[in-house]
Amino acid sequence: MENPTTYDIAWLPGDGIGPEVTREALRVLDAVASAHDFAFTAEEYLMGGAALDETGTPFPNETRAACQESDAVLLGAVGGPKWDDNTGEKRPESGLLALRKALGVYANLRPVLVPETLASASPLRPDRVGGTDILFVRELTGGIYFGTPEGRTDDGARSTMVYSEAEIERIAHVAFQRAQRRHGHVTSVDKANVLEVSELWREVVTRVSEEQYPDVELRHLYVDNAAMQVVRDPQQFDVVLTGNLFGDILSDLAAALPGSLGLLPSASVGGTVGLFEPVHGSAPDIAGQDVANPIGTILSAALLLDELGEHEAADAVRHAVDATLEAGFRTADLAVGDEEAVSTSTFGREVATRAADPVPQNAPTP
Ligand code: IPM
Ligand code: MN
Repeated sequence: MENPTTYDIAWLPGDGIGPEVTREALRVLDAVASAHDFAFTAEEYLMGGAALDETGTPFPNETRAACQESDAVLLGAVGGPKWDDNTGEKRPESGLLALRKALGVYANLRPVLVPETLASASPLRPDRVGGTDILFVRELTGGIYFGTPEGRTDDGARSTMVYSEAEIERIAHVAFQRAQRRHGHVTSVDKANVLEVSELWREVVTRVSEEQYPDVELRHLYVDNAAMQVVRDPQQFDVVLTGNLFGDILSDLAAALPGSLGLLPSASVGGTVGLFEPVHGSAPDIAGQDVANPIGTILSAALLLDELGEHEAADAVRHAVDATLEAGFRTADLAVGDEEAVSTSTFGREVATRAADPVPQNAPTP
């Protein structure tokens, strides 16, 4: 028999709950790999605050080189109160931005789904949120996160929102092409009534749409209105195209729809190597207690598999997550009423068991 394809994954647990949740994602990958005839290695590297403490920098050269040579990067989260007073390049978050930039991953994909099984955990009315299926396409390596001039001045400070036409064009293509494979609708978000950079954003997105994607419906919303619409009627959205800062804010907002930020995965692509991380942060208040929700990271691993072309395995992971929820397992953030919560590792094992088994069987309930 031929040797199976082996993927080398750079594993960056990072800070807070990062180690716990990525461990469960690797467990699930392990379970799904042999059933789908591939293998993988996961080498661990320092990132964020953990890297700062050990090496003095949040994104060590060794980590950079390993990520660039890998087939995919799986990241937990970075940051925490220990480093909150750090500034500039001593902030764990600056390491994450440098990683995204180093890999050139300009397209951040953040799917927000509200499975009917979880609609009751939502802070909004279940009939409003049930069935929500939005894909945020957030520009990730430009905008105000990276614009110059920036920094302190004699009497203040400045940050600059900068986009070139080329940067807007390439992210617009990603959004339109995703929409073609989904429901054929893009909502582009900007602040074109105030910001010149948004005026250009709107112009370029409109041009790309007219010239190359007449089959996709496009509309524009101002970011403040978009925020309201996401809460008021999330079912109206298909693909949401945004710049870096607006996408950061709107995706956290949308993450409240299914009731927990812990559910949301992300994939950052378009560069040399893809970066896969949950949308949630390091959640220092619950770190090390085995109570965090690993779903966002497990679903990020599914996106990683998709990016490697292992679509069947990716689907198996998603089905296993759904089946585990349907069987009644809930982590603490999802448990409502008298539902009992299971630990991070129990939830991960339940998903892994189901992912390994391509034929759904009568799964145990808690
Ligand atoms: C995210 C995070 C990061 C961001 C931080 C940690 C730098 O909030 O991935 O959404 O703002 O991009
Ligand atoms: Mn964020």
